Amino acid sequence: MEAYRIIDLLHRDWIGKEVVVNGWVRTFRSNRFIALNDGSSQRSIQCVVDFEAFDDNLLRQITTGAAVRVSGTVVESMGRGQDVEIQVRDLFLHGGADPERYPIQPKKHSMEFLREQAHLRVRTNTFAAVMRVRSALAFAIHKYFRENGFYYFHAPIITGSDAEGAGEMFRVTTLDPKDPPLTEANEVDYTEDFFGKETNLTVSGQLEAEAYAMALGKVYTFGPTFRAENSNTSRHLAEFWMIEPEMAFHDLKDNMDLAEDFIKNILRYILENCEEDLLFLEKRLLDEEKTRPQAERSELSLIEKLKFVTDNEFKRIPYTEAIDILRNSKPNKKKKFQFPVNEWGVDLQSEHERYLVEKHFKCPVILFDYPARIKAFYMRLNDDGKTVGAMDILFPGIGEIVGGSQREERLDVLEKRIAEMGIDEKELWWYLDLRRFGSAVHSGFGLGFERLVQFATGMGNIRDVIPFPRTPQNAEF
Ligand code: 4AD
Ligand code: MG
Repeated sequence: MEAYRIIDLLHRDWIGKEVVVNGWVRTFRSNRFIALNDGSSQRSIQCVVDFEAFDDNLLRQITTGAAVRVSGTVVESMGRGQDVEIQVRDLFLHGGADPERYPIQPKKHSMEFLREQAHLRVRTNTFAAVMRVRSALAFAIHKYFRENGFYYFHAPIITGSDAEGAGEMFRVTTLDPKDPPLTEANEVDYTEDFFGKETNLTVSGQLEAEAYAMALGKVYTFGPTFRAENSNTSRHLAEFWMIEPEMAFHDLKDNMDLAEDFIKNILRYILENCEEDLLFLEKRLLDEEKTRPQAERSELSLIEKLKFVTDNEFKRIPYTEAIDILRNSKPNKKKKFQFPVNEWGVDLQSEHERYLVEKHFKCPVILFDYPARIKAFYMRLNDDGKTVGAMDILFPGIGEIVGGSQREERLDVLEKRIAEMGIDEKELWWYLDLRRFGSAVHSGFGLGFERLVQFATGMGNIRDVIPFPRTPQNAEF
């Protein structure tokens, strides 16, 4: 008989039916009740075993973490919190899990501990819920773009260009283990190039996406990107996924409109399709918040926060206005900003971004028209000659979630900017070609997928929303 997914069986309609399910044992109580979970839901199904009908040796191996197949009849459950359970007729052990060694026992584990067990942590309710929401968000993203006339474009991972000009790149080398290039001191020379060319892991697919937008109209990439920044924060990873739409004939305003509509749409999708997981994560967050001082607790619940974003307009303000607000603000009675905002032109720190979003406006904020000298070479210079058509979206609890801009489409202005920034024009010959042949107004943005998943799930640390996080300390798995 074909096996069923547990989530489909947890209804009274199934009473009286014969079913087969596969899954992992969460608990086995009183030699009688197996809580079985197959990853389809954070709810487990109770499987009732008549211990006299089964071999003792088999029952001894039904422990937390074991993989089993259960066949039996769905019956009404007398237990609380569940409508149905399975009266077990047949029990098959796929593989046991030695209770002395299996690390994920049915008790509360710390997040730090679970990070060390990244290969097993998804068997907990919290991580399974986060990863199901992550999967739904990815689906919603593709769905949104497909329904809005975008083509999915695959940017290369190995590239010769530094899209952000920030120099935070992982170098790619070709090391032949039999014949590694050696320095004079006989050490492996890791600066060896990729078949003679200097290359790195991509920090962003934007430049290549621009090429494709200038032929297909509207495109997006959705793939892993890499930043060799040695920052240990709850918002940074060395490998993260980025969604990057790029649109020909769209200016900065169109770009902001699209970004706002896109974010609202995908959050609406999970509100409609992931209710059970979101309710579970919301409850988890409430329990966690109870341990914090009242002042640090959030006023809105997780689902309320998501609805707030989908139902309210994002506040749009130019950088210059934000600087005025910050200059005249006291973040709280005692504390000043760690980085005081004294002059126009400074880059905003996360404390400033969070102040604007969480204290001042109390809603998502789109900041635009940043000073040219703190932004990347490709952003379009505004008529004032000192700001560029950049836009960042800032989210409560997260800070920057999106970075985007209108791109400089004028060849002469772009060449001048590249020269001023000391970038080698030869490296960008193909990018400049796009301004030589059929150039047009265009724009796009990058949404950090893990930061979005953090917002959607309420997880405090970015390491807990990606299956195998890559950070300076963590590349073991
Ligand atoms: O602001 P960033 O650096 O923008 C770009 O890379 C542009 N080329 C995107 C574009 O216009 N196509 O990065 C975009 C977003 C950030 O707003 C943030 O959400 C996320 O990517 N991000 C990170 N997420 C996790 N870990 C990191 N180290 C991140 N760096 C950026
Ligand atoms: Mg940015």
